[in-house]
Amino acid sequence: MDREYFYSIMNGEGTLDYEIYLNTKALLSCQKDFKEFCNRDELQFQIVHQAEEMWMKLIGYTLLDIDDYMQKEDTHRVLTLFRRVHAAQRMMIDELALLETMSPKEYQEIRLRLGNGSGQESPGFRTLLRMHTPLWQTFKANYLDKHGLTIEKIYNSEYTHSGAYVVAEALAEFDELFQRFRAVHMQLIMRTIGLGAKSLKGRAVELLNEGLRVRFFPELWEIRNHMTDTWGDQHGVVRDPIGSH
Ligand code: HEM
Repeated sequence: MDREYFYSIMNGEGTLDYEIYLNTKALLSCQKDFKEFCNRDELQFQIVHQAEEMWMKLIGYTLLDIDDYMQKEDTHRVLTLFRRVHAAQRMMIDELALLETMSPKEYQEIRLRLGNGSGQESPGFRTLLRMHTPLWQTFKANYLDKHGLTIEKIYNSEYTHSGAYVVAEALAEFDELFQRFRAVHMQLIMRTIGLGAKSLKGRAVELLNEGLRVRFFPELWEIRNHMTDTWGDQHGVVRDPIGSH
């Protein structure tokens, strides 16, 4: 195929209504020019990172809406918007698989072009890391404290599958999917550059493991330990076989 011809038409003219509304002219020039790529994988490398930034922008924006609706205890809205957040998070995770089609050598060639840049500088990721504390405060004030509820009550002693419980589970899913992104990203690193190498910031990649241990909403995970321990106490650590009852 005539590569030059397709390069010349690929970005469109930017003059049709579709192109104007979506600003495709600007959007499609956010990647390097075709002739500047160091290899055939670099376009994909840029696009995956850019797409991930777009999803994080949408997630952050949607979490602000969720915060507003939690203040009004509009649970239906909160749950619908959390479905959107979770779907975008799953997309972020699935998209990482694209980069596993890149060979270690091709990544090394791209890596030489990255300067000191690293994912730690991602504006989307840094924004999301700041949102969980205010989200939790809003949830706690409006769904728990205002009604004299606690996490223990909504999950265990007064469990009714209430609005507070389903919103708490939506928060837990956000937390879990965030951690899953980190875990899959870690596997991508292992596949591409190895886990023992020094990172561009000069620190061992294993340090990313610290992030893997972070939980946005520790109370939502602690309640599960608490329940298993307290319910377990009723039976004792060693139980009778089922057949003996
Ligand atoms: C082949 C692909 C990739 C490799 C080899 C890679 C490698 C790395 C490495 C080595 C770090 C450690 C920190 C550092 O070097 O400064 C890091 C951090 C990070 N990367 Fe990637 N990455 C890749 C793709 C991606 C993609 C597609 C995203 C999507 C946004 C991303 C987001 C991040 C984030 C947010 C951090 C900081 C994580 C934290 O602080 O917990 N990376 N990456």
